[in-house]
Amino acid sequence: MGRRVNMDSLGLFVLLISTFLHWTAASSADEISWSYSGFVGQSEWSEYFPDCGGTSQSPVDVITTQTKYDPSLVPVMPLGYSQHSNQPFSMHNNGHTVIVELPEWMGLGGLPWFFTAVQLHLHWGNGGPGVGGSEHTINGRSSDAELHVVHYNAELYPNMSAAMTQRDGLAVLGILIETGEETNPGFNNILNYMSRIRHADQKTFIPAFDVQSLLPKDLGRYYRYNGSLTTPPCYQSVIWTLFHERVQISKAQLLKMEMMLYSSKVQEVDRMLLQDNYRITQPLNHRIIFASFSAESGRELSSGEVTAIVIGVMCGCVGVAVIIRFIVKTIRFFKLLHLETVVVNSSTSSWDVLHNNRPAPMPRTKETEKSQEIKTDLALTLTSKAERKEELSPSPQTEP
Ligand SMILES: *[C@@H]1O[C@H](CO)[C@@H](O)[C@H](O)[C@H]1NC(C)=O
Ligand SMILES: *[C@@H]1O[C@H](CO)[C@@H](O)[C@H](O)[C@H]1NC(C)=O
Repeated sequence: MGRRVNMDSLGLFVLLISTFLHWTAASSADEISWSYSGFVGQSEWSEYFPDCGGTSQSPVDVITTQTKYDPSLVPVMPLGYSQHSNQPFSMHNNGHTVIVELPEWMGLGGLPWFFTAVQLHLHWGNGGPGVGGSEHTINGRSSDAELHVVHYNAELYPNMSAAMTQRDGLAVLGILIETGEETNPGFNNILNYMSRIRHADQKTFIPAFDVQSLLPKDLGRYYRYNGSLTTPPCYQSVIWTLFHERVQISKAQLLKMEMMLYSSKVQEVDRMLLQDNYRITQPLNHRIIFASFSAESGRELSSGEVTAIVIGVMCGCVGVAVIIRFIVKTIRFFKLLHLETVVVNSSTSSWDVLHNNRPAPMPRTKETEKSQEIKTDLALTLTSKAERKEELSPSPQTEP
């Protein structure tokens, strides 16, 4: 009984605390300070931003064997990405990522509507080994980082804020980033200036650069699905394009990205590194991920694979030739076997008969070495053959 009372009072206490927390969270206006882990971490987002608990959330894991090839998906066309202007780009740290604002004359074609560029930003890990910091994964495998280029549907909506809550309102390009040996000069256009915006809410201007230099070369092969913003408020308004080709940056570039920024503001005493700013993959919930390419054309063959295929085909041809030869021989053998029963009556060894008479029932158009050998044999045994000629004369074709 006493135990029961304790449980009830504990329950009431928890209820009061959570009500208080909800009240304080709600009282801090629209700007609830969410994070990737800790207080209002990913698993709590949906309590404060209901769309984060929706059924068409992003990112997702792309299981390539379950994608559907859609031949109508044409290459995406960046418009004005490479155009240079003397207008610098604005770049800031919003406490969750680094954002570069893009001029409105940049856009995206190749989708059912024209989309205007808004901004680009990055997602990354924590500088350690282990899983990468990409949001989307392919066949369960993450990449080291991920670039998102955000656009809004300028044909259906007047601006970004109107479009971002609506279906088909946004188009985001997802570019998986992996590390290699070489420095990627395109990414230095951002990384070289990140030291100016180490703290949340800091802002700077950077020289305009060719945004297309951040994209993979192959814009024709990608995955397409309907999803959401990957940060609160998680609006389910995004037509996603995730490129099949990854881009490479150097290990030093990745480390700079992962170690440079703080999620804390400049006046905050405790500095918090801005790391692991990726959302975990969300359930597909019966959504279909379309691929602009079919699995067979999805990758180039290595020279080793080409050699293997050539050898395989050659072996196959030889195999088929051997089988055909075997079948021909078997047919001939059985025909001769039939003849043998006739010939055996002439009191000769059956193998002699088989050997000596082999070419007789099957006239060939092309003479092999073997048949020539047999011919010489025939010449030697011509006399005995002549004797049997009468017996062999009924052709096998005349048999029922
Ligand atoms: C966006 O468009 C809507 C609808 O026309 C308008 O009410 C709103 O003020 C616009 N917002 C901005 C930031 O321009
Ligand atoms: C996204 O949803 C719309 C309907 O709202 C549908 O017409 C379209 O085919 C979907 N696209 C993909 C890639 O699933």
